[in-house]
Amino acid sequence: MRSLQRGVLAGVSALALAGCATTGVASAPPPSSSASSTAVPIEPAQPSWAARDAEMDAFLDDLIGRMTLEEKVGQLTLLTSDWESTGPTMREGYQQDIAAGRVGSIFNAYTADYTRELQRMAVEGTRLKIPLLFGYDVIHGHRTIFPISLGEAASWDMDAVEKSARVSAAEASAEGIHWTFSPMVDVSRDARWGRVSEGAGEDVYLGSKVAKARVHGYQGDDLRAVDTVLATAKHFAAYGAAQAGRDYHTVDISERTLRDVYLPPFKAAVDEGVATFMTSFNEYDGVPASGSKFLLTDVLRDEWGFDGFVVTDYTSINEMVPHGYAKDLEQAGEQALNAGVDMDMQGAVFMENMVKSVEEGRVSQANIDRAVRRVLEMKYRLGLFEDPYRYADEARQEATLYKPEFLEAARDVARKSMVLLKNDGNVLPLAANAERIAVIGPLGDSKTDMIGSWSAAGDRETRPVTVLEGMKAHAGNGVTVQYAKGASYEFGDEGKTDGFAEAVALAKSSDVVVAVMGEKWDMTGEAASRTSLDLPGNQQALLEQLVATGKPVVLVMMSGRPNSITWANDNVPAILHAWYPGTQGGHAVADVLFGDYNPSGKLPITFPINVGQAPIHYDMKNTGRPIELGEPGAKYVSRYLNTPNDPLYRFGYGLSYTTFGYSPATLSASSMGPTSSITATATITNTGTRAGEEVVQLYVRDLVGSVTRPVQELKGFEKIALQPGESRTVSFTLRPEDLAFTRADMSHGWEPGEYRLWIAPSSGAKASTPVTFTLTE
Ligand code: NOJ
Repeated sequence: MRSLQRGVLAGVSALALAGCATTGVASAPPPSSSASSTAVPIEPAQPSWAARDAEMDAFLDDLIGRMTLEEKVGQLTLLTSDWESTGPTMREGYQQDIAAGRVGSIFNAYTADYTRELQRMAVEGTRLKIPLLFGYDVIHGHRTIFPISLGEAASWDMDAVEKSARVSAAEASAEGIHWTFSPMVDVSRDARWGRVSEGAGEDVYLGSKVAKARVHGYQGDDLRAVDTVLATAKHFAAYGAAQAGRDYHTVDISERTLRDVYLPPFKAAVDEGVATFMTSFNEYDGVPASGSKFLLTDVLRDEWGFDGFVVTDYTSINEMVPHGYAKDLEQAGEQALNAGVDMDMQGAVFMENMVKSVEEGRVSQANIDRAVRRVLEMKYRLGLFEDPYRYADEARQEATLYKPEFLEAARDVARKSMVLLKNDGNVLPLAANAERIAVIGPLGDSKTDMIGSWSAAGDRETRPVTVLEGMKAHAGNGVTVQYAKGASYEFGDEGKTDGFAEAVALAKSSDVVVAVMGEKWDMTGEAASRTSLDLPGNQQALLEQLVATGKPVVLVMMSGRPNSITWANDNVPAILHAWYPGTQGGHAVADVLFGDYNPSGKLPITFPINVGQAPIHYDMKNTGRPIELGEPGAKYVSRYLNTPNDPLYRFGYGLSYTTFGYSPATLSASSMGPTSSITATATITNTGTRAGEEVVQLYVRDLVGSVTRPVQELKGFEKIALQPGESRTVSFTLRPEDLAFTRADMSHGWEPGEYRLWIAPSSGAKASTPVTFTLTE
């Protein structure tokens, strides 16, 4: 039976089976305070776990010296538990494999008693008693679910992002998990790609900051601490650049783009001490990532000095056969190991073939020993050789899951992640005299959708607080909140109108309509690409009928990607993008709608007008025929005939219930040299009547380069809180290194020349007056 299962994995049909389902100037302002921010990267300290440890080396020398080749290959094998599978390739017989030492790590197994039971099989049943490593996709929460990762990035609040990872680690580790397959640090610029929901959006700088915050949140400062888990930077590399936004599709980008756009968040994760890397499903430059020596050895090990281990993505070694890169699994395994893969996830390719490959000399003992040592080092650093059961602690599990402060943190991060896209006439926050509130739409009272995709061990059925529940819990005496589903988000339901009459009647009898619409939870995530970014189902038609009632309508969008909500932007007075906000999402939405929290999120990804603009991102190149050079309507410039070049909502955009004024930016000097720095400063004032937070953004443009440069690049940001009328001076310090890129000769560094700089509330800055400075040789 087992070999049959493996046989199924062994060919083209493996591809079909290998899918894994699963963020002015105020009148009489108070005295200014000041905040300082630096865009200067902090030189990475060697992660504490990577320090050489003579005792560990001696221990592992001895252990590896006693291992048979079969036992070594076992340590390079990761299989899913049948407790819960992320795909249909559930294997039978894995328990025998554990007992025989043929598998060294298990994923999708959790709870203290279950992991203890499996661990016992390994340490009591095997000759060398090597403990298992337990991995799991803990992506945006383990039991207490936080907003989806793209939503968290929209908070631009690195403390919040880190907090989410910290809580995730505390809960997951209490259930016996040692290792999370997170953070996904893939830069993604194509809203068609379903996995945009899992990353930090389109930007290199923001993505790198988020990567660091997450790694630190999961791993803390001490891998041995029982409430931390190993993090995984995935998917290495350029997975987000899939052609046409179709998941698993070919990636064909220049090495310059790879290095300047897709790699920096991975490098940031290495600098933060990430313990493991996961390869990606895609090819890069004709070579599947799991077989890419360029990525896995030349860049990751030799250039960056990564010291942890590399695991493949799910059956991605097997997939080198249908990729047309390996003639069979045996060759695929050899290509992967020799390229720098240390652990095979789920494909059992190493398990089935590696002994032969070594015996016949196509893989060296040295390469095997190196991979084994990397895996065993992590087990050692986690303390598993001292006590293999140290994470499987029922009492800690009992005391840790769903702690009230974790739920409060999830609610807080959810509020911070929401982006107010429109608020004409201050429809929001809801007026105190709104006594009859209608909540309408398929996502208004849906527990299942609140936690989005990749929600680990999150409860989808009972725990999530829906928007209706949150609004009801929040509404004061005398306020009635009623619900009608009204529409469907299912593909194929476009023509249906059966729920419309009830919803429209409810809208007519209400003071305000809160339409909760968007995408079903599994329309983003893995294998969830779309060729339309419109509202699915018949939601758009219902929305039009709701607006036609003349009642004020607030659109709360729940989705894991940018949607082209152009009609809503033109016709609905208020729009809040809430992503999938997590277990406490309904409370968080209510906090924002009723004004107990003033929204502060900004988009980490561009929202196109329509899908035809995809891929679109704020840091594009100018081209030789930029639209601004032509008369309005000029034909022979870089433009579309039927859609503007500008998006619907820009990267970095987001409104507040208050307003902020920006003074012109000033510079500490008009030029800097190779060893100096320059400080840009602006004063931001809360010009409205409510306290609020603002994400102050620094953009730079390198006007002329040895290769063409983007029209603007984010180089710093600072989230500040201001009372009404309060002003604050925000400063960003730039050094030449912050302006480095891959130059014409492929070296990494800065170039002398003239630069423009903006301190602004969004990437719309490029239209405003910049300050300029010179970088001299
Ligand atoms: C496939 C996904 O691409 C990856 O992100 C995930 O970690 C693995 N499956 C394991 O579930």
